[in-house]
Amino acid sequence: MVNKLIASVLPLLPKKFVWLFSKRYISGETLDDAIKASKKLAGLGIRVTVDHLGEYIRELSQAKDVKAVYLSMIERFEEEGISATYSLKPSSFGLLLNFETCYSHVREIIEKAKQYNSFVRIDMEDSSCVDAEIELYHRLLQEFPSNVGLVVQAYLKRTPGDLKYLAAFHSSNTPVNIRLCKGIYMESPEIAIKDRKAINKQFADSLEFLFEKGIYVGIATHDHDLTDIAEELIGQYGLGESDYEFQMLYGVTPELRTNLVKRGHKMRVYVPFGKEWFGYSTRRLKENPKLAFYIIKALFKH
Ligand code: FDA
Repeated sequence: MVNKLIASVLPLLPKKFVWLFSKRYISGETLDDAIKASKKLAGLGIRVTVDHLGEYIRELSQAKDVKAVYLSMIERFEEEGISATYSLKPSSFGLLLNFETCYSHVREIIEKAKQYNSFVRIDMEDSSCVDAEIELYHRLLQEFPSNVGLVVQAYLKRTPGDLKYLAAFHSSNTPVNIRLCKGIYMESPEIAIKDRKAINKQFADSLEFLFEKGIYVGIATHDHDLTDIAEELIGQYGLGESDYEFQMLYGVTPELRTNLVKRGHKMRVYVPFGKEWFGYSTRRLKENPKLAFYIIKALFKH
């Protein structure tokens, strides 16, 4: 209810107000900003996955420009000596416009990452993209078994089936690598679980399933309850560095992040940058209505 209300108000907010809130979640508009933020995190013993903001291109021709940004980003991080991985949204390469074109652009980016022994994570977008993103991952995994991973969303009702499907092609030659998150898009109750407790249960069950299968997991959550469960499972299964890492978003719950690092867990932060920060930020706002409330309050004060 609150989220629905906020979703309807957000598009009406002047961009400068949304920016007031957004700067916390975005490293900046340029690659230099992402580099600066990544160096700072590296100083805290935290790794990064870098994302160029943008999604759902309208013209297939735009995909080439997005690819060029990723290729130069990988070169630049390498030159700067920062160990990074990269996250991308297939819809910014035209996933739903032309699968083959999207595939060839993403393939080129992964090929570049492979040159430097790095890694590209395919973000999971809304439910209209899930089948195509799994297919994209499956194909790329055959060619780049150590350089590509996928995201799975715990809120989707289809997730247990998808995990079984993905686990079936996990082997030492094609090691499946999954980032597990709750999921952030507005989905209908037919498609996604709505109850927070039930989402957490599916997250915990999915995590245990992945650990049982020996699949590497990026545990992407800021939820204390879930990080507690994850730590318990990690102990129970006797897991180490090569089995999992925690992942968090830039600017979210830095204390929890620090505590996990102090307890010896590997941590990676998702560092977004770019001019297309509006869509990303409004999703973060919908997720955390409390923050939206402060912005709306500020709006009416001025
Ligand atoms: P939850 O939303 O319950 O938050 C737990 C606590 O974290 C909150 O109580 C609050 O304290 C804090 N918190 C959470 N969000 C906050 C915010 N915006 N501002 C301030 N505090 C906040 N989703 C997706 O659909 N596809 C994807 O590919 C990805 N990729 C991805 C990568 C990484 C590294 C992360 C961490 C997350 C994603 N997500 C994602 C987003 C994910 O699906 C989810 O929406 C968020 O992580 C929030 O869910 P939590 O598990 O943190 O729990």
